[in-house]
Amino acid sequence: MAKAAKAASSAKEGPRLVACIADEVTREAASRAAAGLGWSDAKVRSGGSASAAYEIDRKRPPQLMLVDLTDATDPAAAVAELIEVCGPQTRILAIGAVNDVGLFRTLMSLGVADYLVKPVSSELLSEAFSRAMRTETDRPDEGPHSKQVNVFIGARGGVGTTTLAAATAWLMRNDYRRRVTLVDLDLHFGNLALSLDLEPGRGLREALEHPERTDNLLLASAMVKESENLSILAAEEPLEDQLQFSRDAARTLVDVLNQDYDCLIFDVPRSLDPMSRGIIGLADNVIIVTDLSLAALRDTLRLVDLAKSLCSGGNRLLVANHVGAAHRGEIGRSEFERGIGGQLDMAIPFDAKAAVATARGGRALPAAAGGSKATIELRQLASRLAGHEAKPKAGLRRWFG
Ligand SMILES: Nc1ncnc2c1ncn2[C@@H]1O[C@H](COP(=O)(O)OP(=O)(O)OP(=O)(O)O)[C@@H](O)[C@H]1O
Ligand SMILES: [Mg+2]
Repeated sequence: MAKAAKAASSAKEGPRLVACIADEVTREAASRAAAGLGWSDAKVRSGGSASAAYEIDRKRPPQLMLVDLTDATDPAAAVAELIEVCGPQTRILAIGAVNDVGLFRTLMSLGVADYLVKPVSSELLSEAFSRAMRTETDRPDEGPHSKQVNVFIGARGGVGTTTLAAATAWLMRNDYRRRVTLVDLDLHFGNLALSLDLEPGRGLREALEHPERTDNLLLASAMVKESENLSILAAEEPLEDQLQFSRDAARTLVDVLNQDYDCLIFDVPRSLDPMSRGIIGLADNVIIVTDLSLAALRDTLRLVDLAKSLCSGGNRLLVANHVGAAHRGEIGRSEFERGIGGQLDMAIPFDAKAAVATARGGRALPAAAGGSKATIELRQLASRLAGHEAKPKAGLRRWFG
């Protein structure tokens, strides 16, 4: 079938919905809600979360999944497993018997669109279905997003700076609908594009060497795309070439990218040339990534001082990664926090399974391992950067408002 005809027919049928519900009353309500919306491609099955995975065609996962968690002893684990099976494109709605804000928050942090407490009427389900499937263009807008520059820098090599920068960029475009550019400022050794299974484009070096010539057309031609709203600027310059970029290059790069994108994410190497210092100086958020080793503690403190002096108006976030990895010489979180004289903003667990899935899939970590513990923490980080941290979602207001 031609693409346009396919799209037209799927618009007519509504999204592919799979609902796995334990009780008959709610099953009937779900069927009525889907029918009322004119969604003919809806499968409403009996059974809860335990049977949900069997109802999914992995080659063609549903666009919307409604899962009943009443049978789950660990609802978060059940949802995480389902996310792994469906992949990141499926919107998940959960339903259950437990009215608990802690559970609600956990499910939201996993990326669940909403959690409804039984009993639910077909009207409530219909509303939740429509809300979950609203597209980018008809989602209620929070107004134009303010432009934002986020800089990731590692206290040490290999702490996961690139992994976190790519993951955050993916979440900002996937969960928060931002138009994102991800820039790898290590033009010699950077592996950001590679980590997303992309070949770096050509032109970043020229743009940085000649800020006076840089405009959005030049940058657009230098970019490679992970998706419509996530572009990557990276390079693989010969090691023989010594590269030198001025502070002006930083200002121009940010100004030009800000014309077309609302979230810029920079992966900054620790060589700290004038251009990298310039980028740090322009940051709204400097995210210092560290592990919990003594060496990283020393360099975290030094980077905090540097960020304070270069960027007094920006926020600084300290994010520990690889937490719990015995081989990294950890001194323990509380000792590390005593050493930095404050608290870490985020602690992302060492998650070998998620890292393997990320590397094998050539995708950002939350896309490759949506249900992992690392993704839960990364969602907290993205939420904080998106300014959503303290805002309860509609569902929560419905319960406690
Ligand atoms: N939370 C995590 N759990 C397990 N492995 C991780 C985690 N975060 C990153 N990794 C792995 O650590 C390795 C280094 O990651 P990454 O390349 O992001 O580090 P980096 O700090 O950018 O390194 P470099 O200093 O070379 O730029 C990769 O193999 C990545 O998959
Ligand atoms: Mg890196």
